[in-house]
Amino acid sequence: MRKKDPSNRVISLTRRREEKKGLSTKTSRQTRSSKARVIAITSGKGGVGKTSIVGNIGYAFTKLGKKVLILDADLGLGNLDVLLGLAPKYNLSHVIMGEKTIGEILVEGPGRMSILPASSGIQELTHLNKDQKIQILTQLDRLVDCVDILFIDTAAGISSNVMDFNATAQEVVVVVSPEPTSITDAYALMKVLSLKYSGKTCKLIVNMVRQPEEGREVFRQLQLVTDRFLDITIEYLGYVLFDDKVSKGVKSQKIVSELFPETLASKCFTDISRKIFNMSPVNVPESGSNLFWRHLV
Ligand SMILES: Nc1ncnc2c1ncn2[C@@H]1O[C@H](COP(=O)(O)OP(=O)(O)OP(=O)(O)O)[C@@H](O)[C@H]1O
Ligand SMILES: [Mg+2]
Repeated sequence: MRKKDPSNRVISLTRRREEKKGLSTKTSRQTRSSKARVIAITSGKGGVGKTSIVGNIGYAFTKLGKKVLILDADLGLGNLDVLLGLAPKYNLSHVIMGEKTIGEILVEGPGRMSILPASSGIQELTHLNKDQKIQILTQLDRLVDCVDILFIDTAAGISSNVMDFNATAQEVVVVVSPEPTSITDAYALMKVLSLKYSGKTCKLIVNMVRQPEEGREVFRQLQLVTDRFLDITIEYLGYVLFDDKVSKGVKSQKIVSELFPETLASKCFTDISRKIFNMSPVNVPESGSNLFWRHLV
């Protein structure tokens, strides 16, 4: 049986929306002027806020008029769908088993973001082989053609899955919290990134800070050691204040920016999103593709 084109679903969803609004009948590919940006959000230590950041920044980008796709790349323990209050029937495990195409597992999140959900509790998926990674990335690359920006929410740590997803992205954002263990794990991650990631620049978000200066101080400490010992530069993207409303949002399965747009953390997410929005894309692949492949093939 002929497999469906994975990009059809995003195109038809977008076309239906635009027709409804009476805006345009062109496909997304025709309306988008340049290549999609691909940004991986990653961390050394777990639980520092990657998924919260991806959900909120993705949502902010929809408010800026962008078509957003989010890949939950925490393949064994994905929970982006739970955070967004979605109950997807299928996920990436079905794509890897060959039962579904990537377009068939897409679900719509807040702000009409398109979400590619991961599975939870399937240990084999935490160590994909080269063919399985290529299978996912080939389909993903075509889908990304139809959006403005792809965010990849990785698992924590330095496993080969995490590193391969990071190496695929055009930009890598490392999330760190002010705890010493998180800072040392972020350094370890950057050390591995400096060997594997062709961009050689990564951006830093310091999450759960008590005051803005704390974010700048964590950045300064990390910059001191990376400048001295690693072949990678770090750039400060900003901080997110510790805010109880973030976990209140998680409990109601809604992102904080949607539930409490005026709270401190939501304002930080908006500031960071605007900063990313206004930055020129760096490290764009030369060929027709949106993702980097060299490290896999
Ligand atoms: N700025 C913040 N203020 C308060 N709590 C926060 C903030 N950011 C995240 N949290 C809380 O921290 C916890 C972990 O967040 P999240 O799941 O986003 O982290 P993660 O890095 O994706 O974790 P994992 O490594 O397990 O994937 C959640 O309970 C979330 O509500
Ligand atoms: Mg997560």
